[in-house]
Amino acid sequence: MSNKRILVLTSGGDAPGMNAAIRAVVRTGLSHGLEMWAVERGYQGLINGDFINMQRDSVAGIINQGGTVLKSARSEEFRTVDGFAIAVSHIKERGIDVVIVIGGDGSMLGAQKLAKAGVNTVVIPASIDNDMSGTEYCIGFDTALNTILDAVNKIRDTIASHDRVAIVEVMGRNSGQLALLSGLACGSEVIILPEIAVDIRSICEGLQESFNRGKRYSIVMVAEGAINASDIAKQIAEHTSFSPQVTVLGYIQRGGRPSAMDNIMGSRMGALSVESIINNDSNFLVASRQGSLVAIPYEAESKFQPSIDMKQYKLASVLGM
Ligand code: F6P
Repeated sequence: MSNKRILVLTSGGDAPGMNAAIRAVVRTGLSHGLEMWAVERGYQGLINGDFINMQRDSVAGIINQGGTVLKSARSEEFRTVDGFAIAVSHIKERGIDVVIVIGGDGSMLGAQKLAKAGVNTVVIPASIDNDMSGTEYCIGFDTALNTILDAVNKIRDTIASHDRVAIVEVMGRNSGQLALLSGLACGSEVIILPEIAVDIRSICEGLQESFNRGKRYSIVMVAEGAINASDIAKQIAEHTSFSPQVTVLGYIQRGGRPSAMDNIMGSRMGALSVESIINNDSNFLVASRQGSLVAIPYEAESKFQPSIDMKQYKLASVLGM
């Protein structure tokens, strides 16, 4: 038994599977006799100081829901000296021993800043972008991939009926992970990523050649961080016989019922975060490495950078055109 007080929050862009992680954190903590707390709206909630006591029922009926029941925010105030100081003082006044942050790389920076200020933290990686250093998997990625696949399958019905080129812009900020793997999953003819220099001329030639040999429609998957989708459309229209249609999938990719994979990862990561805290560990990222979950101290986390898997990229290029 332990009398530790743990607080959980979700921060940054919401990701499907965050609710499974919240549920696992709360219920694992309660089952070990810990006192469990939460705030809404991420770091902004720490500043607002509305701490919520969490019981088993507080997380009932949430595992099937997308988004985050604790709400999320990208708090500008937390970045200010005064806002940060208020957050730290609220945590200390309430006697919180560890803050568990469920979020992406921006949230990770916040957790590391709190750790430097003497507040113990733990990060559970959650971002549809799957772009955090230190971990091979972020909660939400699998659901987003499946959502994109579903949307592109629908787009494909229409472009196949009309002999068209579809340009589909997906999220990912500066990362091409989402575009690469969704492109591979849906059989895109072309995938454009921020990590790989784009040669629009050769893309246009490839599209025209495949049209000439009888392939009447094509899907061009573009990562939002690579190049503006409308610019690509203009260039394809200029250099080929196609008039491409642009679809920006936007928030559709972030919402929706979590996949089995994201609920399993959320549950396992949530449980591991609390079990490690019980073993007196803190200031670590819960990371997925080669199929196992491990607690990686913050100092070691940045030594592991996710990068585009060139084998997957080449495979997608060979299969697509
Ligand atoms: O980090 C997730 C993400 O959805 C990125 O893919 C995207 O660039 C960004 O968040 C958009 O953030 P928001 O609209 O919430 O500011």
